[in-house]
Amino acid sequence: MRFGYFDDKSREYVITRPDTPLPWINYLGTDSFFGLISNTAGGYSFYKDARLRRLTRYRYNNAPLDMGGRYIYLRDADSGEIWSPSWMPTRVDLDSYECRHGMGYTVITSKKKGVEAHIRYFVPLNLECEVWDVTLANEREDEVNLDLFSAVEFALWDAWDDSTNFQRNFNTGEVEVPDLHIDPDGGDVLRGTIFHKTEYRERRNHFAYFACSEPLNGFDTQRDAFLGPNRGWDRPLVVESGQSKNSIAHGWQPIGSHHLKLHLKPGEAKRVIFLLGYHENSTNEKFDPADSNTINKAGVLPVIREFLSLDRVDKAFEELREYWKELLSKFTVVTPDEDTNRMVNIWNAYQCMITFNMSRSASYFESGIGRGMGFRDSAQDLLGFVHIVPERARERLLDLAATQLINGGAFHQYSPLTKRGNNDVGSGFNDDPHWLVLATAAYVKETGDLSILDEMVPYENQRGTEMPLFEHLQRAIQYTLERLGPHQLPLIGRADWNDCLNLNCFSDTPGQSFQTTTNQDGNTAESVMIAGLFILSCQEMVQLASIVASHTVTKAYDFHAPEFYLEKAQQMEQAVWQAGWDGEWFRRAYDAFGEPLGSRLNDEGQIFIEPQGLCVMAGLGVEDGKARQALDAVRDRLATPHGVVLLNPAYSRYQLRLGEISSYPPGYKENASIFCHSNPWIMIAETVIGRGDRAFDYYKRINPSVREAISEVHRCEPYVYAQTIAGKDAPTHGEAKNSWLTGTASWNYVAITQYILGIKPTYNGLSIHPVIPSDWQGFEAKRIFRGVVYNIKVERCSSSSSTRLIVDGQLIEGYVIPIPPEGTLEVNVVMELAEN
Ligand code: GLC
Ligand code: GLC
Repeated sequence: MRFGYFDDKSREYVITRPDTPLPWINYLGTDSFFGLISNTAGGYSFYKDARLRRLTRYRYNNAPLDMGGRYIYLRDADSGEIWSPSWMPTRVDLDSYECRHGMGYTVITSKKKGVEAHIRYFVPLNLECEVWDVTLANEREDEVNLDLFSAVEFALWDAWDDSTNFQRNFNTGEVEVPDLHIDPDGGDVLRGTIFHKTEYRERRNHFAYFACSEPLNGFDTQRDAFLGPNRGWDRPLVVESGQSKNSIAHGWQPIGSHHLKLHLKPGEAKRVIFLLGYHENSTNEKFDPADSNTINKAGVLPVIREFLSLDRVDKAFEELREYWKELLSKFTVVTPDEDTNRMVNIWNAYQCMITFNMSRSASYFESGIGRGMGFRDSAQDLLGFVHIVPERARERLLDLAATQLINGGAFHQYSPLTKRGNNDVGSGFNDDPHWLVLATAAYVKETGDLSILDEMVPYENQRGTEMPLFEHLQRAIQYTLERLGPHQLPLIGRADWNDCLNLNCFSDTPGQSFQTTTNQDGNTAESVMIAGLFILSCQEMVQLASIVASHTVTKAYDFHAPEFYLEKAQQMEQAVWQAGWDGEWFRRAYDAFGEPLGSRLNDEGQIFIEPQGLCVMAGLGVEDGKARQALDAVRDRLATPHGVVLLNPAYSRYQLRLGEISSYPPGYKENASIFCHSNPWIMIAETVIGRGDRAFDYYKRINPSVREAISEVHRCEPYVYAQTIAGKDAPTHGEAKNSWLTGTASWNYVAITQYILGIKPTYNGLSIHPVIPSDWQGFEAKRIFRGVVYNIKVERCSSSSSTRLIVDGQLIEGYVIPIPPEGTLEVNVVMELAEN
């Protein structure tokens, strides 16, 4: 069953009923001002950091689920009838409803009794403010008299404190509302603009504003005045009565609501703009007059004035459309498969950009409070957006590297606002540093920018510790070499990529963090998954080291030549064959007692997905058939119609020696759900052994667009990946959870574009090596790579018995297109694939 449809031409998903199984959301903002918005206008806004600079309040895990948002209420002044054009929060039936989620904007259109409302929400480029562009049209035969109320609830900035510290917070709330009737010269646009300035009197230099383009009939800023005693947002007293109270918040819960009276003749339409923004003043220019508590509005006034103009808003929207069009033009494909085209050209790339902006901080499953930017998460996300915004990827890499520890390890998370490592979570996740190697390699391959390897970056953000980025990567390798276990496999530490495989934790106390509790000595539990990752990481280091050897003149550190990394990779491979191979597949780990996990010797958790993916990606067993054996075991034991589960059989009981993984009921999260992030590793591994049909089959099983048809089972948004889909051991097999912020986005993008379609950046040029399904006759792609447009055509050719690569008419040896001469704008590539 579907709840909408894809409009690929407009790059939109169109939701046709408000009661989707879960709130289906979108993101606003591209740079510093961000918001989440659901299909019923729920959600919230923040500046840079969803915890520390939260503008508006949102109630997670509420009933109804989606409460708090960018609400508009309409009231028919003649009949007294009230409704919300976005359905929530009144939930009054509408005569028609449609929500279009597009690239960085959402448009909700609805009709009720001949009044059409059309609301476009977006954040203009380079602006710290969101626009609500509301058009109301009268389709009745008679005049309609409407009361329009806007409504937001302000958060008192720190979202954690805001939802816990009531003894203080009920006293601190403050607003300012310039007089509705002040002199139109100069102060005009400020009339009725609501300024939220809690804590501005003391240490904060920032405030929020909520402005409206039309003359106001009234306003409210105190929540209980607006809602009325014991009422909720579904039926505020002010809306019901049609009259604002011009309330000023003193403590309690500051809100922003404007009241407009609109008279529309038959056929007449009226447009109203609302701006919800953030502004910061410098410390010595906070107040006007200087010795008062009144906000100095000189800096923000021009912004408000500019963006309350309809023309400017239209232009800003066009600029936003252009911006996304340009970003998404870096790679486009036309394949025989519509779901592939749609995801690659639009939604998967878009989701990669959202994970770039949000990491795992703010979604409908991530409260914006708990987690900053994950080290491994952000590094892996980069794989999916590096070709879209290479300059910003560069900055992200350097930010990440600056939080790396002197010992080569990494802070597991850092704050996006301060860019400092988070001490509460700390370090000791032994896979973390290797993702920095993979991300740096991806950046260099994409851009050819070798200078980044010499870029001086501090450790732990400490001045005076600066070292070239390449030296950071060396320490990442060193980190693992200094932490090998009894089988010469990498020690797992607190956890590896699987945050819930906590082999050194042994937690028996409720509430204790599985991730930060470590009470075993840590010298026994080992990870085969890190071994595979380490080999991949060394393979990149071989190439990076040879670049550094030939490009960098002086090396103020102990430089290891490529051979060093080659040798370390070989030694690790030996260790994997000695202790990491179970006979038919790769083992997962050794526990704190030195017992294997992911082995036939276990009753449960006999086989895990991660090492099968990563070890084959690293090339292990490709020649002697072991890779094929491991992937066949994945097919037989882990694959389901909804995707590949993380492990099998699921753990049925909690086990002290395993940690969080066994805390989940069977089939959920790390305990044998389809943990989508790891599925593309299997797709890639299948292409490594040349099985395009199987790779693509796995790709389609979790492709959200394919799953759209079973939305009542899948339940999450059909346009983006979710972190998990309940596995075969779960009663709700097929149900997705935790959509949007997941490494699934970047890895699927990599799997389909670089391995199945086979268009892959390398250090020496773009490589074309498709491993596509046998029933495809070919496909076309356009890829912008290092400033050159590559027009790529792949076709099966009955005349050729082997693959031929023809570049601008010339037959080329191998798969890599040499970098064209300076000044080349376009390269035409034809790849002829031999008939099956
Ligand atoms: C979550 C985490 C990620 C981890 C994965 C598996 O997605 O953000 O860092 O690798 O779970 O546990
Ligand atoms: C929980 C989740 C896991 C996530 C981790 C992040 O353990 O199950 O998926 O990676 O939290 O700290």
